[in-house]
Parts: sequence; structure tokens; C-alpha cells
Amino acid sequence: MASSRHHRLPLLLSAALVLALSVLPAAQADVQRYQFDIVMSNVSRLCHAKSMATVNGSYPGPTIYAREGDRVVVAVTNRVAHNVTIHWHGLKQRRNGWADGPAYVTQCPIQPGGTYAYDFNVTGQRGTLWWHAHIAWLRATVHGAIVVLPARGVPYPFPKPDAEVEIILGEWWHADVEAVEKQGRALGMAPNTSDAHTINGKPGPLFPCSDKHTYALQVQWGKTYLLRIINAAVNDELFFTIAGHTMTVVEIDATYTKPLSASTIQLSPGQTTNVLVRADQRPGRYFMAAKPFNDAAVPADNKTATAILQYAGVPASVLPAPPRLMPETNGTGFVAAFHDRLRSLNSARYPSAVPLAVDRRLLYAIGLNIDPCASCPKGSRLAASLNNITFVMPRVALLQAHYGGLKGVFAADFPDRPPARFNYTGAPLTAGLGTSLGTRLSRVAYNASVELVLQDTNLLSVESHPFHLHGYNFFVVGRGVGNFDPAKDPAKYNLVDPPERNTVGVPAGGWTAIRFRADNPGVWFLHCHLEVHTSWGLKMAFLVEDGDGPDESVLPPPKDLPKC
Ligand SMILES: *[C@@H]1O[C@H](CO)[C@@H](O)[C@H](O)[C@H]1NC(C)=O
Ligand SMILES: *[C@@H]1O[C@H](CO)[C@@H](O)[C@H](O)[C@H]1NC(C)=O
Ligand SMILES: *[C@@H]1O[C@H](CO)[C@@H](O)[C@H](O)[C@H]1NC(C)=O
Ligand SMILES: *[C@@H]1O[C@H](CO)[C@@H](O)[C@H](O)[C@H]1NC(C)=O
Ligand SMILES: *[C@@H]1O[C@H](CO)[C@@H](O)[C@H](O)[C@H]1NC(C)=O
Ligand SMILES: *[C@@H]1O[C@H](CO)[C@@H](O)[C@H](O)[C@H]1NC(C)=O
Ligand SMILES: *[C@@H]1O[C@H](CO)[C@@H](O)[C@H](O)[C@H]1NC(C)=O
Ligand SMILES: *[C@@H]1O[C@H](CO)[C@@H](O)[C@H](O)[C@H]1NC(C)=O
Ligand SMILES: *[C@@H]1O[C@H](CO)[C@@H](O)[C@H](O)[C@H]1NC(C)=O
Ligand SMILES: *[C@@H]1O[C@H](CO)[C@@H](O)[C@H](O)[C@H]1NC(C)=O
Repeated sequence: MASSRHHRLPLLLSAALVLALSVLPAAQADVQRYQFDIVMSNVSRLCHAKSMATVNGSYPGPTIYAREGDRVVVAVTNRVAHNVTIHWHGLKQRRNGWADGPAYVTQCPIQPGGTYAYDFNVTGQRGTLWWHAHIAWLRATVHGAIVVLPARGVPYPFPKPDAEVEIILGEWWHADVEAVEKQGRALGMAPNTSDAHTINGKPGPLFPCSDKHTYALQVQWGKTYLLRIINAAVNDELFFTIAGHTMTVVEIDATYTKPLSASTIQLSPGQTTNVLVRADQRPGRYFMAAKPFNDAAVPADNKTATAILQYAGVPASVLPAPPRLMPETNGTGFVAAFHDRLRSLNSARYPSAVPLAVDRRLLYAIGLNIDPCASCPKGSRLAASLNNITFVMPRVALLQAHYGGLKGVFAADFPDRPPARFNYTGAPLTAGLGTSLGTRLSRVAYNASVELVLQDTNLLSVESHPFHLHGYNFFVVGRGVGNFDPAKDPAKYNLVDPPERNTVGVPAGGWTAIRFRADNPGVWFLHCHLEVHTSWGLKMAFLVEDGDGPDESVLPPPKDLPKC
């Protein structure tokens, strides 16, 4: 059932054409062109219908297919009343921040009636990524998969699956998501949590009125499927499992891994995980399930979305085997063990280019805070910070200001370490929770190797935070509980085959160390991928300087780049 859609690209090429292209000189790139219309659509889930922004009326939106080496051009036309931008999450966009998408970081928004063509090359990466709106909370309904196939003639470094399918995990609110975010901001409090989780846009039968909103994946006995799993949820890290079946993880965030067998996986918003699943059980109907992972000391949202793995020939009247028992919602130990087992492939063809020497050492303390708010009912609002700075969005895009030499938009003085040292993960700190506000960037020399330790703190409450860096992949060289110890912890780093990703979880009351080489000039956003925290200011940006070489500077902006 799924195969025609999921093998669209290969089918576009006749055998003769493949033969003709394979004798051409290398790097004959194809251009993949798409038109995205942002429109309001009426979508019905559970017992409710609502009008919401989508791409071309589909939820999730259309998949982008490309091969490594292709050029992709997506013209986005805004036909709604909201400002819109689209981020191509995980695409490195070398020298080409203009196509990255975060509003007021790399571009001004596409205003109602406007069109902007995102034009980029897919270079040196292949696998599952995704696209999503990158302004306010619009990504709740405006998102979809990106499938980058290996270059023509290049096999996967694992047995070729019989078919491939995208599995997009999401979150559904009955209310207008922009209204939910606005209400939270006006009250200075946590916004309402979602009403359901979804698998390919559908919550599954465990919610009211939702039988007909159940995604089913048809499989044939004996065949192997590549599931490209994406966590597109707004505020929830998720577990994912398939009853009765074992998954083999082969890729995370579009980087190959050593095969890892798992009955349950965990992924944060922003992360992707490719798994192989063999349909080798008694033909029947099996639940796939997704539920939140949350070990913060706040009431946990534990709603479970389900879908069906449906063997061909088994009638839909057969009751599915019960969902597999998943780890507790607060399953810290499971999550730590799962991520500690992930290893990048590090083969001759796909080596791990981990920086061994470090030019710039950064320690960013993550805080949840309470700032004064004159207009809020309680006179205060929840905020969040990195190194005690709550990031304030500018009114013109940072990359435009940097490229055009526009002064006064930002200061390039983001501190390399917290202004005050304290026992980051000691007793909860509930006094002196205010932050300083600012649009402050960290300046990084071209090609510097950077080590960033993200340290969670007990300001207000410890909590797990998935951090996403734009413009780069990074290596996750270490993680631990408690305070990072610069004298002892680096000795335990994995500098051989650490996971390579674009989004990483920082454990509640712990730390994560990442390394990357700053060889992509531009302005690159770093932020928590829990949208609620991003809205509270848990974000900053790196300003990576141009190098001296001919291909080491930011490209000129495209002519149709939106204006503020
Ligand atoms: C979206 O809709 C427009 C207008 O109908 C159409 O031209 C375009 O091909 C559609 N795009 C996708 C990805 O389906
Ligand atoms: C959505 O539904 C509302 C009310 O039922 C209707 O007025 C509107 O025209 C519909 N919009 C679309 C795009 O179908
Ligand atoms: C994409 O690659 C082509 C061919 O190398 C090059 O001419 C073009 O400038 C690249 N575009 C971007 C946005 O990097
Ligand atoms: C948030 O939840 C409260 C309590 O259920 C409800 O009264 C309010 O209308 C909700 N807000 C939005 C924007 O839906
Ligand atoms: C989810 O949480 C609620 C309230 O905390 C609890 O009553 C319920 O049993 C939990 N459900 C599951 C499946 O853990
Ligand atoms: C985790 O959740 C379970 C079930 O809700 C509870 O019994 C247990 O105390 C929690 N563990 C921690 C460390 O909070
Ligand atoms: C930090 O606080 C924790 C928990 O109270 C304690 O175990 C640890 O010894 C403290 N560390 C330092 C360096 O004071
Ligand atoms: C953060 O900054 C605020 C405002 O300057 C200050 O009151 C507070 O003590 C600082 N907190 C920490 C942990 O540095
Ligand atoms: C960047 O750094 C790497 C590692 O030190 C080095 O091999 C490479 O030549 C450098 N590139 C430039 C342009 O300086
Ligand atoms: C849309 O973006 C423009 C340019 O930044 C801004 O002036 C306008 O206020 C924005 N509109 C909304 C509704 O946010």
C-alpha cells in the first residue's frame, strides 16, 4: 500500500534513464521543485473539527523527496492571516542561512499574500529529516517529512528494506494553537497542554470518537520495512513501540548508526529515528504506540497515541494485541540507557569526524525562571534562560543585520559560561529567579572546534530539554547526571563513535557535551525544541564568522528574501 508513495523518486526514473545518467560524469544533480500553499483547512479529529493552517490542506503536510547531491526549491506561498516561515530541520544549509527559516533569525517572515522560494543543495547528508513552520507555535499543524535518499547507485549500509514509510508523531489541540500560546503568554503561565498525541496525524482508538482516526500500516508477512520516525510534537518527548516486534535502529537525525536492537525507542521533538522492522510474527493486528517521556517534577502528560500494524489478509475486525507496556512516563533510567547505547556507524565510507582538539569551550546553564510582568495577572511570568539570559527576538532578522552590517540589532557578547557559579543541581532554588533580557549572540571564528556543555539547573525545577542547533550536526561526546566536572568528565567522553545528531536531550538535573567544527558561516539558532520553553526565551544564536577562502563566506541573499 505504502510503497508507491514511498518509492516515488526511484519510480520517476525509467531503467534507461538510470543507465544514461550513471555514465555521465559524477554529480549530475537533479532539481526537486515543490510548491507549498499555506492555507486554512478544516480538519476533524476526535469529536472536534477546527480550522487550522496547513500546507496544501494536509496534516501532516506533504513529504519532500530528494537524493544526496540534489538541489531543492520549495516555493512557499502564504495564503493565511499569520506570518509564516519554514525551517528545513537538520539540513546543514552551508553558507546558505537564507534558506534555513527561523523567523527573525535568518529571515523576515513571509507575510500574508507573499511567496518565498527556499533554494538549497542537499550536500553530504542523507536520511530522514523534516520541515516545519518556525514562527510562534504554527509548527503544530505545519510540518512534514524530508526523505533524502542516498546518491544514485549508493546502497544503504544495512539490508535493503522491502518498503519504506514515514511515521510522524505529533500533538493535537482542539483549540487554535496560536490562541493557546497567546493565552499562556498573557497569563504568564504554562499554556494548556494538548488534547491528544498523534501518529501520522491520527490519535488512534484510545481517545473518544477516534476509531475512524486511526493510522494503519499494511505489511506483508516476511517483509522488512524501514520506518522513518519523526517526533514533530510541540512540547513532548515521546516513547515509541510496536507490540510483538523488535526494531533495529539504523539511523538517527539522518546519520547512520551501528545497528541497535530495541523494543521501545525514545525521541525528542526535533529528533528522527530510522528503524528496520521485519513482519515475522503471527499474522494479526498489532498496536504501535507513542506516549510522553517526562521526568520533571510537574504533573506528567501521559496520553498514548496508537496506530495499527496490519498484516495483509487479516480482517480489520480482529482485535489488536494489547499495546506493549512502555517505560514509566518518568522513565529516566530507560532513556539514559537507550541513548548511551547509540553509536555512530563510523565506517570507512561514513567516518565520525569528531573534533579531538577544542578551540572554544562553552558551558551554558539552562534555567527556568520568573520575571516581572506588569500586564500579567500575578505581576510575573514564567521565563527561561541560557547563562541567565532570556533571549529577546529582534524585529529584523539577525542574519540580515549581520550581512548588511546593520548596527544595534544584537550584541555579539553572549557569555561563554554562567555569570555566577552555584551548585547547578543542588537543592531547588526558588528565590532570585529573575533573568537579564537581551539579544546576545556568541561570536565564533570560522573553522573553530567548539565544545558546548549544556548544564541543566535546579532553578525552579530540573527538567529534560531537547536542544537543536541549526546549520550543523554535532557529536554527543558525553552526558551525565549532576554537575559537569571539567576535571573528571572529559576522560569518559566517547571520541571514537559518538552519536552524530542535530538535536540532543539534556537530562533533567544533568548535562550533555557536544562538539562541532564551525565551518558554516552565518547566524545559527540554538534552542530548546520544546516550543513552550522556546517561547519563554530558552534560545540564543551563534554568529560564525566568514573564513578567508573563496567558499568560506555567507552567500549573497536571494532576491525574493522577505523584508520586515
Ligand atoms: C500544493 O498545491 C498547489 C496548488 O494547488 C499545487 O500546485 C502544488 O503542486 C501542491 N503541492 C504539493 C506538494 O502537493
Ligand atoms: C470550514 O468550516 C467553516 C464552518 O463550518 C466554513 O465556514 C468554512 O468555509 C470552512 N473552510 C474551508 C476552508 O473549508
Ligand atoms: C548549489 O550548487 C550549485 C552547483 O554547485 C551552485 O551553483 C549553487 O550556488 C549552490 N546553491 C547554494 C544555495 O548553495
Ligand atoms: C485552556 O484551558 C482552560 C481550562 O480548561 C480553558 O478554560 C481555556 O479556554 C483554554 N484555553 C484555550 C486558548 O483554549
Ligand atoms: C496518566 O496520569 C493520570 C493522572 O496522573 C493517571 O490517573 C493515569 O492512570 C495515567 N495513565 C497511564 C496510562 O499511566
Ligand atoms: C515515577 O512514576 C511512578 C508511577 O507514576 C511513581 O510510582 C514513581 O514514584 C515515579 N518515580 C519518580 C522517581 O518520580
Ligand atoms: C550539590 O548539591 C547536591 C544535592 O544537594 C549535593 O549532593 C552535592 O554534594 C552538591 N555539590 C557541591 C559541589 O556542593
Ligand atoms: C540573573 O540575573 C538577574 C538579573 O540581573 C539577577 O537578579 C540574578 O541574580 C541572576 N541569577 C543568576 C543565577 O545568575
Ligand atoms: C579546519 O580545521 C581542520 C582541522 O584542524 C583543518 O584540517 C582544516 O584545514 C581547516 N580548514 C581551514 C579552511 O582552515
Ligand atoms: C508580520 O511580519 C511583519 C514584518 O516583521 C510585521 O511588521 C508584522 O507585525 C507581522 N504581523 C503579525 C500579525 O505578527
